[in-house]
Amino acid sequence: MSADAPSGPPPGARADWTIDQAWDRYTEAEHQVWITLYERQAQLLPGRACEPFLKGLDALDLHRTGIPDFARINEELRRLTGWTVVAVPGLVPDDVFFEHLANRRFPAGQFIRRPDQLDYLQEPDVFHDVFGHVPMLTDPVFADYMAAYGQGGLRALHLGRLRNLARLYWYTVEFGLLETPQGLRIYGAGIVSSHAESRFALDDPSPNRLGFDLERVMRTPYRIDDFQQTYFVIPSLQSLLDVTVNTDFAPLYARLAKAADIPLAAIEPGDRVFTRGTQGYARAGGRTGKAA
Ligand code: PHE
Ligand code: FE
Repeated sequence: MSADAPSGPPPGARADWTIDQAWDRYTEAEHQVWITLYERQAQLLPGRACEPFLKGLDALDLHRTGIPDFARINEELRRLTGWTVVAVPGLVPDDVFFEHLANRRFPAGQFIRRPDQLDYLQEPDVFHDVFGHVPMLTDPVFADYMAAYGQGGLRALHLGRLRNLARLYWYTVEFGLLETPQGLRIYGAGIVSSHAESRFALDDPSPNRLGFDLERVMRTPYRIDDFQQTYFVIPSLQSLLDVTVNTDFAPLYARLAKAADIPLAAIEPGDRVFTRGTQGYARAGGRTGKAA
């Protein structure tokens, strides 16, 4: 999502860190990376991703020409929810990121990963940002949540509690699961843009799957380098919007400043447990295979 940066925007970027997408300058090989990733996920996601995501993917017609032209996406996106996608060189500072979200602009990495990085890369590229995040922004409720999160981010920054608020983003926007009558579905961008995690998050016996609770989530650290050890399940997008918008986070932050973190694989007495994970994957050393 965002990173601390000591200085201003890099050369060539505007004061708000945006750049031109320069869509005409993508190479055929770069478009081909998009198409490969798109086709893998499009096959996997029906029955796994939630309906609003699949509907958004359809509405934006994201696959037509390889890497989508933001100008084309934005016509439809603006019409649906008032959001637009803007290009940035990579991670942007927190305050810049929140300012964009609060104004319904989603900053998306302009570059695409190399063909040898299909399964994993550290920095969000155009595939993660656009395929992963933008379909959900066509949903009016989720669109409101993201804009409210931007405002909440500016406030958290001011109050010095970004550590806690960032966990909310992580466990919802990036790695959230949704409960539906048909079973659990993915809405998190970090999951839907990952071939392996799209299966792991729903099917693997290793991770915990627990009911979402605002304060609980904000006390739970997360992993940036591997599959999550715990996923949190919301009952509906509307309930997520309601609880976050209707809660004044200031008193919450005051409590959290004194509360201990919850270890990231722990199950607490109050948790609603969908899956009690074996944690077998993490215990076997995860991605690197090096046992902890
Ligand atoms: N209600 C939160 C606050 O008082 C702001 C917020 C809204 C945060 C939505 C996250 C998501 O700071
Ligand atoms: Fe992301």
